[in-house]
Amino acid sequence: MKKEEKISKEVSEFYDVVWTKYLPEIEEQKKFLEKYIGIENIKGKKILDAGCGTGIAAICFKLLGAEEVCGIDISDGALNTAKKLARKNKVKVTFLKDNLLNPKLKKKFDIIHSFGVLHHTADCRKSFDNLVGLLNTGGKVYIALYLKTPLTFLQQLARKLLRLFPKRFWISISGIIKKFMAGKKKTKRGFDGEGDMLDWFFVPYRTHHTPKEVEIWFNEHDMKSKVLIEKTGRFASTSNFFMVGYTSK
Ligand SMILES: C[S@@+](CC[C@H](N)C(=O)[O-])C[C@H]1O[C@@H](n2cnc3c(N)ncnc32)[C@H](O)[C@@H]1O
Repeated sequence: MKKEEKISKEVSEFYDVVWTKYLPEIEEQKKFLEKYIGIENIKGKKILDAGCGTGIAAICFKLLGAEEVCGIDISDGALNTAKKLARKNKVKVTFLKDNLLNPKLKKKFDIIHSFGVLHHTADCRKSFDNLVGLLNTGGKVYIALYLKTPLTFLQQLARKLLRLFPKRFWISISGIIKKFMAGKKKTKRGFDGEGDMLDWFFVPYRTHHTPKEVEIWFNEHDMKSKVLIEKTGRFASTSNFFMVGYTSK
């Protein structure tokens, strides 16, 4: 099996579990999108949520007035959860199984949102280029990626060691780490933390990046960019940065 296929398979099986167990909070996510993306970039727009997970952002885009929303993901478990959540919230969103390393999707979108996804693909840059290829002229791409810091190696080491535990212990260990690291504190997007710990410390594959690196990727597509959130977490070693890319003409 090729490296790309192997990583895609392991990652999708991992998220089949994560996104069946942990459900998001719609209101917190809505506030997040209103604050950082803005209603003017949502209302009446055709939006793609790439690596949609539970579909929370996709659903919120629709609730906030997007004209059309599509969510794609490689995990069947995630897509099933997303479809259920959309029905529960009475919104019409198209959810499709697709791999960002080789997307079948041919449609183009005004706004593309991909939160915490590209760094779990076997080739972050290739997935990024594929994503930008799905953008309409004049559109915007919002992405969150893990921030590379001097402490990143510690996080990667901890993840590699913790993954040596048998899978059946991963969820309880995540609960313990959550109590230690976050207490009762919720994340900016309303997650209570245990799912995030599972994601951070047990995910089969993750890479880390910097806003400067992504700025260069955008420039190579003749796009400008702006950092919207420098880091999302309590510890810099485990945070995402969130940025937007847009055409300069
Ligand atoms: C950390 S989760 C983020 C989910 C969602 N964006 C959110 O913010 O809640 C990463 C998601 O990316 C998906 N994913 C990973 N690799 C992918 C790929 N190559 N193509 C499409 N989706 C992928 C996973 O299945 C998972 O649902």
